[in-house]
Amino acid sequence: MHNQYETVRDLFAKNVVPSYGRFDIVLSHGAGSYVFDVAGKRYLDLGAGIAVCCLGHAHPAIIEALIEQSRKLIHVSNLYFTEPQGRLAAEIIRRVGPGKCFFANSGAEANEGLYKLARKFGHAEGRFEVLTAVNSFHGRTLAGIAATGQDKVKKGFEPMVSGFRHIPFNDLAAARKAISPATAAILIEGVQGEGGVTPATPEYLLGLRALCDEKNLLLLMDEVQCGYFRTGRFMSFQRILENVPGGDKFLPDGVSMAKSLGGGFPIGAFWVRGPYADLLGPGTHASTFGGTPLACAVALKIFEVVGREKLDEQARKLGVWIQAELDRLAKTYPTVIKRSRGLGFMLGIELAEKIPGFAASEKSPAVQFVNRLHAAGVLTIPAGTQIIRLLPPLNLKPQEAGEGIARIEDVVKALV
Ligand SMILES: Cc1ncc(COP(=O)(O)O)c(C=O)c1O
Repeated sequence: MHNQYETVRDLFAKNVVPSYGRFDIVLSHGAGSYVFDVAGKRYLDLGAGIAVCCLGHAHPAIIEALIEQSRKLIHVSNLYFTEPQGRLAAEIIRRVGPGKCFFANSGAEANEGLYKLARKFGHAEGRFEVLTAVNSFHGRTLAGIAATGQDKVKKGFEPMVSGFRHIPFNDLAAARKAISPATAAILIEGVQGEGGVTPATPEYLLGLRALCDEKNLLLLMDEVQCGYFRTGRFMSFQRILENVPGGDKFLPDGVSMAKSLGGGFPIGAFWVRGPYADLLGPGTHASTFGGTPLACAVALKIFEVVGREKLDEQARKLGVWIQAELDRLAKTYPTVIKRSRGLGFMLGIELAEKIPGFAASEKSPAVQFVNRLHAAGVLTIPAGTQIIRLLPPLNLKPQEAGEGIARIEDVVKALV
């Protein structure tokens, strides 16, 4: 007789497009920072569904918001006004800066809005090009893979949507050199996530702002993964530029967000700075499900919980502790861990080049390491071949962080 694990695996094998490289785990439910597989095994979830489940799993406030709003109004389309969308836009603007918001359903869709904003902005002058960074990640739509600065996402889907070129990240001179008469915007992540947890430097952000002002370009930021309090401030650029002279005046012209905004309920958004807020006028951009009352009610509730429980400060403080522990592991076990990366609750473990305990395998060191962590009861996310991401829920408890580090250390020890 088939057990539940095999039944689900069979259903997927027969019915689901195999576009994901999935791990050998079938999950059934979660509670707080933990998820459980169908055999009842418990995992500490330090990946949070790739930076999505900011309040962990089955949070009562999210459940309550879903039930309460579902009783009133789930969806009506954007042909009409609804209060939750307006209030959510105001909450985002209050935390980013003067401007307006558009609502979508995912990070890729939020970024699509930014590409269209850039095209509209440059249209009268025949400018359309968006410069993005090498190693960036902006989503899997056709424009998303054209924008993404990694060949692996483009392969097999050529020709690419035109109008995107890639520049080395954190290299201001290269950005200046790459600008052409067709360039309309520069788009970067505050902290590159899929590319390996690499924060933008303060000099780069301030320099790009000055460069975009000089050349009349839009400065766009993809905060889909690194935003939403993950670094200890609402947006990663706010954290990176903290205490940096001139940093408090920095504002991009457009910012995309998704992931943690809905804590697991799909919602994406972009914010656009005041002067450009009406560029996309009536009839120019739309999304059937964008900003439904239900999605917005959940997002509003999450803002409330994060604010009340000061989860931004928690992520910052506990993030410092986790990173110090990762640094200790790197120092103690240099043949396994090279260094830590990132900030706040967006952290990376960079693996050493040749790990003694790994036999030759087709699987990347990152995937092998993540598999060992699974066996030890911890979920993490690989980035590239050498980096493991920790993107925990913002409400991770100190003792859970301690448990995570202890399990990671056990895995590392066995590889020395
Ligand atoms: C920085 C960044 N932008 C965009 C996306 C795409 O978001 P989605 O998968 O919701 O379309 C991701 C997803 O990982 C991301 O990390």
